[in-house]
Amino acid sequence: DAAEKGEYRHFMLKEIYEQPRVIQATTEGRITQTRVLEQALGTKAGNLLENVRHVQIIACGTSYHAGMVARYWIEDLAGVPCSVEVASEFRYRKHVIQQDTLFLCISQSGETADTLAALRQAKKAGFRAAMAICNVPGSSLVRESDLVIMTQAGPEIGVASTKAFTTQLTALLIFTLALARHNGLDEEREAEIVQAIRMVPGQVEQMLALDGKIAEMSQSFMDKHHSLFLGRGAMFPVALEGALKLKEISYIHAEAYPAGELKHGPLALVDSEMPVVTVAPNNDLLEKLKSNLEEVRARGGQLFVFADQAAGVRGEEGLNVLEVPSVHAITAPIVYTVPLQLLSYHVAVLKGTDVDQPRNLAKSVTVE
Ligand code: G6P
Repeated sequence: DAAEKGEYRHFMLKEIYEQPRVIQATTEGRITQTRVLEQALGTKAGNLLENVRHVQIIACGTSYHAGMVARYWIEDLAGVPCSVEVASEFRYRKHVIQQDTLFLCISQSGETADTLAALRQAKKAGFRAAMAICNVPGSSLVRESDLVIMTQAGPEIGVASTKAFTTQLTALLIFTLALARHNGLDEEREAEIVQAIRMVPGQVEQMLALDGKIAEMSQSFMDKHHSLFLGRGAMFPVALEGALKLKEISYIHAEAYPAGELKHGPLALVDSEMPVVTVAPNNDLLEKLKSNLEEVRARGGQLFVFADQAAGVRGEEGLNVLEVPSVHAITAPIVYTVPLQLLSYHVAVLKGTDVDQPRNLAKSVTVE
């Protein structure tokens, strides 16, 4: 056990640090300098992606958050409508599958009972093709799908998913570009995003270099009982994932909200005992986000912001800022996930919880 963890105290930390390498591995053979290699997604990919008019994503837990990020990408870059739902809801309601739907299941293990049940049910209802993003070769999900993109995360031991998530996002972005090409994405934009993907491993490396500062920051969370995570656009699911990590391993109640919904409820909870965490890449929603931060600060809330160094968010009383390197707006959800993983990790270590085996949780939920 100790040998497998190498120099790391926990599998989770090891897996966080593996991300530059496994993200890189997930892109290998699938992109050139400027393009996505569609045939690398499977010989049938071209045929199956042609005429997809709708994407239905199904997943659970962290994989569901990856699907939520993908929805922003798919609608933005491919212009194809996309719905995302947790498997346990989808399978127990009457659902309508639109014509020419690509049914996309995301699962680290490929054995999650609800996800498999949703897929089997949808098969009966009919769709254009079933696609899987999965980390375990030969799993039930892989065997039952028409098209598969394997994430190259390697075995993930920590119950709280880290590297599986960022490799899922990488695979989903590559898939989105392939789909977008069938829907009019121009070569220049494809090249721009492919180049952005190629920079992700290095940028994740830069995030990892902030580990010491994040460990310091984590001390402010140790004695807290509640926390709020805010994000806008594709960074909202990143906030959801950040909150999920914190609650899973530190047992601190963490709730994520789209920043624009703050005034519709959660603002009532904000006081000096409620840390508010947010990620602020330099995107077109930055100014809106900044005014949300002001709303929190005006109520005495303690803000913890991971902000693009060019975003002009400066630390002051009640506003703790950790400046991070600038990244492309499209790949920001992948890169910004990493500091939130580290934050949860360090809070959990300070609290002395069982980081790799949090109470009541299982790595893979194969029964209902
Ligand atoms: C469990 C795990 C989570 C995971 C979820 C979905 O709850 O603890 O980390 O995100 O199942 O698992 P899957 O293997 O389908 O991605």
